[in-house]
Amino acid sequence: MSALPSVAAENFAQCVPIIASSELTEGMSHLFTFVKDDERYEAFVIRFGGQIRAYLNLCPHAGEPIATKNQSAFNSDKRYLLCREHFALFDPDTGKCVSGPCPIADLHKLSIVQLDGTICLMMG
Ligand code: FES
Repeated sequence: MSALPSVAAENFAQCVPIIASSELTEGMSHLFTFVKDDERYEAFVIRFGGQIRAYLNLCPHAGEPIATKNQSAFNSDKRYLLCREHFALFDPDTGKCVSGPCPIADLHKLSIVQLDGTICLMMG
């Protein structure tokens, strides 16, 4: 089980539900969108090493998406997150760039919590 923090039900208004925790299996990524300050963003959530992480779906090299509708955010052996445009690799746990054309920029990590078995994005 993940070590995601849980939030009280009264804080649910600040959370955007993403996916049921039970549906996000190990080595899986899941795309989602959210709106903040009238801007629409695409992001993805992953389970890696039992932990759940979420990142903006934006490679810091040239802005290409990491995950697509048909393509997981993970590389083939599921040890890294992969940008298929120029093959940057990122640590799934931290979003840190470990290889490829992105040495000074990492993935943007998002704040997530778990509420009643649902993974939620914390807004604000
Ligand atoms: S846009 Fe991702 S490595 Fe270039």
